[in-house]
Amino acid sequence: MTRNNGISDFDQIISRQTTGSVKWDALGKIFGSEDLLPLWVADMDFPSPEAVIAKLNQRASHPIYGYNTQEASLYQSIIDWVKRRHGWEIEKDWILVAPGVVPSIVLSILALSEPGDGVIIQPPVYPPFFASIKDNDRQVIENPLINKGGHYEIDFEDLEKKLSNPSNKLFLLCSPHNPVGRVWTKEELKKIYELCQKYEVDVLSDEIHNDLVFQGHRHTVFASLGTPVCKQSVTFMAASKTFNVAGLNFAFMIVPCKRRRGLIQGWMNRLHLNRNNLFGVLATETAYQEGEQWLDSLLSYLEKNADFLVEFVQTRLPHIKVTKPEGTYLAWLDFRAYFTDAKELEDFLVHTAKVGLNPGKNFGSQGEGFARINLGTQRSVLLEALERIEKALRTKSSTND
Ligand SMILES: Cc1ncc(COP(=O)(O)O)c(C=O)c1O
Repeated sequence: MTRNNGISDFDQIISRQTTGSVKWDALGKIFGSEDLLPLWVADMDFPSPEAVIAKLNQRASHPIYGYNTQEASLYQSIIDWVKRRHGWEIEKDWILVAPGVVPSIVLSILALSEPGDGVIIQPPVYPPFFASIKDNDRQVIENPLINKGGHYEIDFEDLEKKLSNPSNKLFLLCSPHNPVGRVWTKEELKKIYELCQKYEVDVLSDEIHNDLVFQGHRHTVFASLGTPVCKQSVTFMAASKTFNVAGLNFAFMIVPCKRRRGLIQGWMNRLHLNRNNLFGVLATETAYQEGEQWLDSLLSYLEKNADFLVEFVQTRLPHIKVTKPEGTYLAWLDFRAYFTDAKELEDFLVHTAKVGLNPGKNFGSQGEGFARINLGTQRSVLLEALERIEKALRTKSSTND
């Protein structure tokens, strides 16, 4: 499973079928078809770092799995990681641990806004952003990203309009952005910072993909930009995407403002969310302490996958458009030259190409005609998926002739 130094051999295929994997074992339920190559939900087909696997095995070999504590060492591992990898100095008291980023977003929405308030998001964006707002009786306020030839940018004029409306109380930022793969620059984040400060809108910054950034780009923690905005923000992070431990349900919020932290903690108490998964805690701590070298190798592999995708699309799928992501292991394929109808594209991918990708329409109306592909897989799997699409497009072109 590993080459040397505990680093995974990312080319090696390890079957995930019959492991209860949502990506591989729920295809019939999700896509209505079992015989698909799945490159959809955001987890990776790679083993976690060896140190994490060893730690979990060691703990699993003790036969009692009762309630667990969170030791100071967990908090220290988070503090050290955030400082080392992201240059932000945080305090232990600012950290609230939770069973996931999405539940943490919901808790923050409940704590920091009232029913009927507006929450601004930037579609196309991660689908649960819409649901976490709507399901809690808040209003989704869209500040759509501008697609400039595949490079997505923020529409600041529109953002200011939305922020200046006093009924819009929160801005839910996706940084780096899923699905368009932007790693927002410091300048872009500063502009957001200034506007949110001006209109006193709190920022919920989902930075779950913060560690997954390619050469030439740098993730800036939004809250690290300055004290006022740091106080006006909640940052969401986890080891789940970075180290492929999403099934262990563990994440954390960083909330520097005591009043806001108290409000979120109040909701956690009300919902009795004060327990955490024993294995999630151990995996996070171990990954942050010992996973850095593994992560650097992973990033190099993922970036080669991104380059491979772009090269394949440009040479063999010329009417499909893709821009190399700056971060995340997700890429956004533009099929609009072939399909404008979302249902037709979905049918084509599932029934003709036989690949399981995320339909773009799930990311907002701006995603119609697009699909999201997950690059967190072996290059041979990626190649197979792209060849299936290539072959299916040939069939489509010939039937259209
Ligand atoms: C932007 C973003 N936030 C949150 C999540 C999920 O977080 P969790 O599983 O911790 O709820 C994902 C998973 O794909 C994501 O892309």
